[in-house]
Amino acid sequence: MLIVIDQTPERSCLRAAKIVAALIKKKPWPVLGLATGKSPLGLYRELIRMHREEGLDFSRVTTFNLDEYYGIANDHPHSFFRQIHQEFLDHTNIRKENSHVPNGSAPDFEKTCQEYEKAILDAGGIDLQILGIGRTGHIGFNEPTSSLASRTRLKTLSNETIEDNRNNDIPTVAVTMGIGTILEARQMLMLAFGDAKAEALVKAIEGPITSSVSASALQLHPNVTVLADEAAAANLTHRDYYGRVVEQTAKYSPERLGLI
Ligand code: GLP
Repeated sequence: MLIVIDQTPERSCLRAAKIVAALIKKKPWPVLGLATGKSPLGLYRELIRMHREEGLDFSRVTTFNLDEYYGIANDHPHSFFRQIHQEFLDHTNIRKENSHVPNGSAPDFEKTCQEYEKAILDAGGIDLQILGIGRTGHIGFNEPTSSLASRTRLKTLSNETIEDNRNNDIPTVAVTMGIGTILEARQMLMLAFGDAKAEALVKAIEGPITSSVSASALQLHPNVTVLADEAAAANLTHRDYYGRVVEQTAKYSPERLGLI
């Protein structure tokens, strides 16, 4: 796991955007896994800027969102479908048919989950998965006790997650990619900003692998980059070592740091 601590979320997001843009330029048909929430907003803003000012082309990009509330329509003001379109997709030239969000209003949720898994496979799997981390240490909506082998399914949201999403009129269940689904992505980029994430981050990176902190499952993946700001990284024990790893990575694999 590569842990890159930048002074501010803005710097981390610029770095993340360079990493994502490099993949988009390199792969003929890149497949991105997208997250909603506040953490990736700066990354999406920078990708939109690159599209507008530098011609970054999304016409061959396919995207799969991690999760969606279950029981609301796409045009609901709090749907992740709406969020990802407003904050990112609608400002790029991605083709409508290539962007996927789990269907939060399908009456048969099991069928919709299976179809989502199949669509990811049919696209050739996810090349790069963007992740945030919830206060309970979750990725997607894989709340504590989510099986590390789980696939896309319905999950009950924890009280903390409902509180953090600051809305009582959101559903308390969601469709989310499972941990097993997420771990199949070829590369992970996890973003963590602010002191509210410090406890979850130290557990995910330095704690034991446990379904109580689903982000800790990333320790099983060979290609994870964590981009954190100083506040989120405050509790990490081996910061000095992570800094030295970053220095060596800059020398030997600069593309992993968004340096080329
Ligand atoms: C929600 C989402 C996660 C997201 C997390 C953190 O629970 N399901 O995918 O990563 O919140 O959100 P934020 O980035 O707003 O802190």
